[in-house]
Amino acid sequence: MKLLVLNGPNLNLLGLREPEIYGKQDYLYLCQLIKQHAAQIGVEVEIRQTNHEGVLVDWIQQARGQFDGIVLNPAAYTHTSVALLDAVAAVGLPTVEVHISDVTKREAFRRISYVRSACVATIAGHGLEGYLEAMDTLLSQWNRRSL
Ligand code: DQA
Repeated sequence: MKLLVLNGPNLNLLGLREPEIYGKQDYLYLCQLIKQHAAQIGVEVEIRQTNHEGVLVDWIQQARGQFDGIVLNPAAYTHTSVALLDAVAAVGLPTVEVHISDVTKREAFRRISYVRSACVATIAGHGLEGYLEAMDTLLSQWNRRSL
């Protein structure tokens, strides 16, 4: 199984940005954590980050036929982007929405997620561990599907 992990704006600043919300570990640490977990559960993984909405749309479109699932933290675009919702719905790859923080317990605008309705699951508030849970979710779905 091959997974694509996509991170939206400002996630490259993990460790620096609001550590009381997002923790003290940096983006490199997150990437290492994901790669280590991928090796443990036997999946291939590619990790990307961008600050640009259209780039996320391009990457989601290009994932078709290249990856078996997407772990997506759209960051702020979660709360604004119909384009990302449409891209995930169009491509039809199983996608898990991840948020490091618990978006349900923050400002009201963070409770809105456009992309959620096209995703197979949402994991929020589990810190960096949430990415690993998302990978496990996609792997177990994939294993069930190929039975
Ligand atoms: C986030 C939550 C979003 O509301 C925020 O804009 C982010 C990160 C999270 O991982 O908790 O940039 O997606």
